[in-house]
Amino acid sequence: MKGLFILILITMTIESYGQSKPNYDESKVGNYELTNPLFINGKTIKNSKEWEANKAFWIEKFSDNVYGKTPIERPKIQSKVLESKLVFEGKAKRERIEVSFPEYPSVQKIEILVYKPSKRLEKYNLVMGLNFRGNHSITDESDVPINQHWASNGDFSQNHKFIEKGRGSEKHRWPIQLAIENDAILATAYYGDIEPDHPEGWKSGIRSVLGDRNAKENWGAVGAWAWGMSQMLDVLIEKYEVNTKNIFLTGHSRIGKAALWAAVHDPRFTHINSNNSGEGGAALYSRNFGETINDLNRSFPHWFAKKFSDFNHQSEKLGLDSHVLISLLAPRPIYVASAAEDLWADPKGEFLGLKNAKPVYKLYKVKSDLAFPKVDSPIHGVLSYHVRSGKHDINQYDWQQYFKFMNIYFSKK
Ligand code: GCU
Repeated sequence: MKGLFILILITMTIESYGQSKPNYDESKVGNYELTNPLFINGKTIKNSKEWEANKAFWIEKFSDNVYGKTPIERPKIQSKVLESKLVFEGKAKRERIEVSFPEYPSVQKIEILVYKPSKRLEKYNLVMGLNFRGNHSITDESDVPINQHWASNGDFSQNHKFIEKGRGSEKHRWPIQLAIENDAILATAYYGDIEPDHPEGWKSGIRSVLGDRNAKENWGAVGAWAWGMSQMLDVLIEKYEVNTKNIFLTGHSRIGKAALWAAVHDPRFTHINSNNSGEGGAALYSRNFGETINDLNRSFPHWFAKKFSDFNHQSEKLGLDSHVLISLLAPRPIYVASAAEDLWADPKGEFLGLKNAKPVYKLYKVKSDLAFPKVDSPIHGVLSYHVRSGKHDINQYDWQQYFKFMNIYFSKK
């Protein structure tokens, strides 16, 4: 009896917070009809030229309803090399670059950590992305300073400050050696340098000076992180001999959502990777499996436009889905990856988001006929996918696949 009472109480509490138990049962996913990305303003797009002329329709819809509007102003950027030194027995040069916005001195500075192969080349391919725990977390090297910006409390931080213990804690996620061996520059920055990941985080970042906080369509943190990726790229192109045909943008999880949105805005990201990006990233909203729009907006009210919460329990009203987002990247090569145990991110939904971008890629003569693969059986194409065994993470296996993909799809010139 007492047990039943507690159960009822828990259920009531959960319901009063608008939370529902995630569905992990494929038979309960429900029926849905996917938006046709080729159908715009009453007309069906027939070729890539028409698509290019009309795709802004979808970008605007995503801006108004999901991620919020990214301001068109492009603030001035200043960059300064803080340190430059040879590392790994001279195999690479490591540089730390500070990025600031002179018109907006109150906005936090961003620090980019760069590893450039020492091998002399005319141009270098670039692998870039944001990290979760500060630049010091991607390497064991003791002289990469501990990031001083806000950190969420956890094993590697105290009182919202990173601590020494976190050094190297994310190194499995960053293929420094592989990049050097493959003659690519690797560059990363802490996502919290762009905007700290909490509801008040906007106050220290670019959203404190750009955008309209009263608008329901104002940009969210995901939009700001995406914007930060483009600022980073500006600096990297200016400072290094980057082969602009071969720029691989990676993003894991919430940063994977931001990477997709960044690439929609910025065609300079020529090769895109979304790793375990889930709801709000590559996974279809229409499938009731794992995380939902309601879950996203409840736990992370600062990530998206306020307007997005109008669709909390009615994704069908959105008239948009992740396959449309991925279609906006056509004809660029994209690699979506899932992890088999990462049900919260809905691996099947991530796969279907990619697969259903096919009609738009087809306009560019890209052939793709994806079938959901077995675990650890990657499919490499312009639309690439794998579901790796194991948990929500990005690891060496994922990177081995991404480098194979780069070797196939990077331009040889
Ligand atoms: C949470 C969130 C996801 C997100 C993930 C991450 O699990 O619900 O949407 O992708 O955090 O960024 O690690």
